[in-house]
Amino acid sequence: MKILGIDTSCDDTSCAVVEDGHRVLSSIVSSQVDLHARFGGVVPEIASRKHMEMMIPVVEECLSQASLTLSDLDGIAVTYGPGLLGSLLVGVSYGKSLAYGLGIPLAGVHHLEGHISANFLRDDPPPFPLLNLVVSGGHSDLILMRDHGAYTVLGETLDDAAGEVFDKVARELGLPYPGGPHLDKVADQGDEDEVKFTRPKIHGHRFDYSFSGTKTRALQELEKRGASPETVRDIAAGLRKAIVRDLLYHVPEVFKMTGARAFAVSGGVAANSLLRRESERLSKELGVPLYIPPKEYCTDNGAMIASAGYFRLKAGKVSGPDLSAEASLPLTSW
Ligand code: KG4
Ligand code: ZN
Repeated sequence: MKILGIDTSCDDTSCAVVEDGHRVLSSIVSSQVDLHARFGGVVPEIASRKHMEMMIPVVEECLSQASLTLSDLDGIAVTYGPGLLGSLLVGVSYGKSLAYGLGIPLAGVHHLEGHISANFLRDDPPPFPLLNLVVSGGHSDLILMRDHGAYTVLGETLDDAAGEVFDKVARELGLPYPGGPHLDKVADQGDEDEVKFTRPKIHGHRFDYSFSGTKTRALQELEKRGASPETVRDIAAGLRKAIVRDLLYHVPEVFKMTGARAFAVSGGVAANSLLRRESERLSKELGVPLYIPPKEYCTDNGAMIASAGYFRLKAGKVSGPDLSAEASLPLTSW
């Protein structure tokens, strides 16, 4: 079954064709980084206009890369939330029209279910129950997955998401947009113990996260020390170490509690080099296999949406013409 996956949740126009939920036949990500860089962040109006311009060329390029035509497709999967409303609307409207025009089923996909599915883009899929750490610009969640479509959220961030903190602090440190990957590189040259970050006190559920205090601490330290290249490197290294430590902090206890059989990390921040190394180390220590996508499938892409859509359609979850874009789609709605 060949599914065309579309993601326009933020500033990338992404499209992919995936066969049977795991084999990527083609994947195109048209980045808008250059358009937003001079503003230091995504400008929603510019993003949605660019999606409108790029949607059809990206789909055409994607089909041509896979040597397919529209009539070869068996279904359409599209992110309908959460994300920027104007951006989501472009993908949802296009996906709905295409499915209707071709007379094939449509699957509306929650963006986070997509990120989780990035770990199924392989011949040997992870076993269940699977503990997922999903970390992006908008989310930091620990999600237990008992099967496709069967998720329990065990913990989530009470304030800022990890990617958001990386981006905001990077901007204040004077690093180029997008901040996360640049901060990751600069951190490699810093002293990660020069600026220390304590663990946050959390007044939520047992496995929740909080990163706003960590962000404030980094910004206060910058104000105190000034932005010399050495300070920038040290703050970046200390911040990266603290965020990765906190992201993985609950993982051993959750494994004990749930008996999960494997650990999966996904979302844009899963491209972070320290998070990748530390997840590897922790999985070895816990004696569980680690699943972490190649970097191109950590950040937003259409392939993960096509994969999630395949499993939804296989389970008979077809979306109707009333599917609408939802900027703040809650986690429980999948
Ligand atoms: O999943 P994603 O592409 O979009 C959202 O769904 O938000 O994630 C984007 C986030 C951004 O905050 C970006 O800075 C972060 O992922 N990111 C990284 C790295 N690469 C991307 N953060 C830290 N280190 C990286 N190497
Ligand atoms: Zn994402």
